[in-house]
Amino acid sequence: MRFGILPRSLAGRTILMLLAGFMLVQILGLGVHTVTQVKLARIEQQREIATQDVIIYRHIAATPPAQRAEAMASEPIPSGDSITLSDTPPPPTTTFQLPLPARQIIRASIIGYGIPMQLRPHGLELRGIGHPLRYVISFALPDGAPLMDRSGTPALPTPKGVPPQVPPHIWLTITSPITTPHPWRSPEFGAAFIVMTVLGAIMIFWAVRQLLVPVKTLAQAAERLGRDVANAPDLPETGPEELVTAAIAFNTMASRIRRFVEDRTFMLTAIGHDLRTPITRLKLRAEYMEDDEQRVKMLADLDEMEAMVAATLAFGRDVTNSEAATRIDLPSLLRTILDEAGDGAPDQADSLAYQGPDHLAIKARPLSLKRALVNLVNNALKYGDAARITLIPKDAGMVNITIEDNGPGIPNSHIETVFEPFRRLETSRNRETGGSGLGLSIARNIIRAHGGDILLQNAANGGLKVSVTLPV
Ligand SMILES: Nc1ncnc2c1ncn2[C@@H]1O[C@H](COP(=O)(O)OP(=O)(O)OP(=O)(O)O)[C@@H](O)[C@H]1O
Ligand SMILES: [Mg+2]
Repeated sequence: MRFGILPRSLAGRTILMLLAGFMLVQILGLGVHTVTQVKLARIEQQREIATQDVIIYRHIAATPPAQRAEAMASEPIPSGDSITLSDTPPPPTTTFQLPLPARQIIRASIIGYGIPMQLRPHGLELRGIGHPLRYVISFALPDGAPLMDRSGTPALPTPKGVPPQVPPHIWLTITSPITTPHPWRSPEFGAAFIVMTVLGAIMIFWAVRQLLVPVKTLAQAAERLGRDVANAPDLPETGPEELVTAAIAFNTMASRIRRFVEDRTFMLTAIGHDLRTPITRLKLRAEYMEDDEQRVKMLADLDEMEAMVAATLAFGRDVTNSEAATRIDLPSLLRTILDEAGDGAPDQADSLAYQGPDHLAIKARPLSLKRALVNLVNNALKYGDAARITLIPKDAGMVNITIEDNGPGIPNSHIETVFEPFRRLETSRNRETGGSGLGLSIARNIIRAHGGDILLQNAANGGLKVSVTLPV
């Protein structure tokens, strides 16, 4: 399933789904509550109307027929209600028969109000009609006739000796409009909904955050491992069962990766190391070659091989290096590097420059970091005849070091490949800039192990711009 509106984070999605589900359940719950409320309200209305009508009936029934019209006019009834007398039974236009409770309430109140036998109604019709709904309750006045249901059976005990007679002749009909109850419009209803939703939302937020903390921890641990296999700390194997299992699995994986990297580096350095003896022997033998030209060429090749072996050994040392991190002053380190580079190449000393704060402490492994930055400065001098360093403290606990030169830069298609070990560009395959192609690779390993990164860009006005970010 793909929804554009879904939040991107797992926490966001979980919270959204739980909230939606929770609100649905709430609405259903309040819906059921409302239906019950409406039912109760209707029964209450019926009870009120029934009792009121029985009181009116009792009064009218006790009044002699001649004075009934007058009595009806002076009856205290709610506005909207109407009372009529008719000599025909009420018309059968019924929306619905009033439910049993109303009938029972009326019967109960007829007895409850102590209406004497001779005044009890001889017929009773209860109906609800029309829109808006009205309750219509009709009583057959007992002027001589017994109380009968429509089926013709006596409904209430009738006075002895009075013969049943159907239909009764005079009907008293009371019509009462009723209002539909709307419990959800009450302020309590809205307040309850809001309070419950807010409380539920707080609990959902809290629970989801709690649940997802381990996921974040795991992601951070994987990130650290990716940056610096040798020094990444193990995950603590504590907490709920599933987390302990995951942490153990992660730590096992990390130690396997570490062993794998160490094995490979060990093999590389072992080969490098073992090659040194035969190279030395070959050099000795080359000295005895008769052909001068061939001898010089062979010795040059052997020198190159020796340099490559030395670089390989240094690379191996860097990978397995576990120097301790301390607080160092970064501007001092950069100035030292520039001074040393200037000493090594006095004719280029003028094109070395540092710009930035005088002091800025960062946490780093001093020797490794120096090796990385020296490689970059040397590259700038070797391929670009200049090294201009700018140090800019950035937000979010990072600093940015840029090293710019005046050289040709690097073709965009090679910006990433020059980081590969032993990778050199065709243009630099000449003797004067001879190198092994490990400098950038080593530098990036070291910087990433510090939690930073290196980015190469060709500057707009020519030259390469190397950006190094480092955490403070
Ligand atoms: N500032 C630069 N300007 C132009 N090209 C560069 C620059 N820095 C590096 N390069 C290119 O990237 C290649 C790889 O650089 P890297 O530092 O890894 O190796 P190297 O300098 O050739 O050898 P090493 O540093 O091991 O002595 C270089 O050979 C060079 O072609
Ligand atoms: Mg280099």
